[in-house]
Amino acid sequence: MSTETINFTRGVPANESFPLAELSAAASAAIAKQGDALMQYGPAAGLAALRAWLADWQGVKPEQILTGNGSLELVEFLCTAFIKPGDVVFTESPSYDRAITLFRRHGANVIGVPLQADGPDLEALEKLLAQHKPKLFYVIPDFQNPSGATCSAAKRRRLIELAEQHDLQLLEDAPYRLLRYRGSDEPTLFELAPHRVLHMSSFTKLIAPGVRLGFMKGDAAKLAKIGKVAEDTYISPGYFAHGVTLEWLQAGKLGPQLEKIKALYAPRLDAILAALDKYIPDAVATRPDGGFFLSLTLPEGVSTTDLRKAAAELKLNLADGLAFFPQGGGERFLRLPFCALDAAQIDEGIRRLAEAVKAVRK
Ligand SMILES: Cc1ncc(COP(=O)(O)O)c(C=O)c1O
Repeated sequence: MSTETINFTRGVPANESFPLAELSAAASAAIAKQGDALMQYGPAAGLAALRAWLADWQGVKPEQILTGNGSLELVEFLCTAFIKPGDVVFTESPSYDRAITLFRRHGANVIGVPLQADGPDLEALEKLLAQHKPKLFYVIPDFQNPSGATCSAAKRRRLIELAEQHDLQLLEDAPYRLLRYRGSDEPTLFELAPHRVLHMSSFTKLIAPGVRLGFMKGDAAKLAKIGKVAEDTYISPGYFAHGVTLEWLQAGKLGPQLEKIKALYAPRLDAILAALDKYIPDAVATRPDGGFFLSLTLPEGVSTTDLRKAAAELKLNLADGLAFFPQGGGERFLRLPFCALDAAQIDEGIRRLAEAVKAVRK
């Protein structure tokens, strides 16, 4: 049995997923072809040829694409452009903690819509919409961070109906969407109602966080406002990364890379589900078909805070669940990122988790 420390803490990609040799070749080629342009300032929306490639890929016009240094910073710029102190922002509860932090930093009153296994609780959303006029509803419909839940097609359609009725702006964050290990895709919210939705995604989970390349697609006028904040902040995003990524994309590497990382991660999802069945068969867990995370609701009387202490003694690091819940709750919530651990580490980690649960249940 291994005695190494096992971390079920951060949702990072596996180092072995990074296409280093391909990126090295792409970097040389990009410098040879357009080194001066990549070293120079340029429009804040991003390298024109990359923007055009992304637009073509996403089925929109180039002016409907805004790139940024990662997708999270685009949320920051969106907040500067559109959120004033006291504005209401809805998120799922739980939701991505860093996004909640950004909304709050801009003075937003963040209100959580309870998340269920098949997406947000839309009855609760309707009640909240009767009381508030939110600036936006931030949703992660595919393999959600932190829960692992995917929104059903029926709920996506109903959510769009409610958005139409209440003139609600949706911010759809979909960095895990392409990491589907089984089953079939649901339509994106953007596909269902492009005028209601700003859609965002990122190459962090597809290539590496190091390329710091995210993008938003949607209404050109709104993106121009967000792009102006970007320009006033950093003049232009990282054109060198844009050139390298564009070269890599044009060389046809995205499809094979996706196959490679799905082949790497799918067995890790299987391993964590099998380990939970083996060691904690009564766990209430989400059973995602893709992404980076699943989550557990701990048994009545067991808190994540106590469990973390017991787990640390067994050299198992767990994350606090509380920051994912904008208005409290989450005392028994546990997020388990499984992609950056191999099958043996996952099995041993869940074995230790079961031991820690037993210790705190006593
Ligand atoms: C839902 C979600 N959105 C955004 C991000 C940030 O992505 P990026 O690296 O593109 O800023 C993450 C990263 O974990 C995430 O889980």
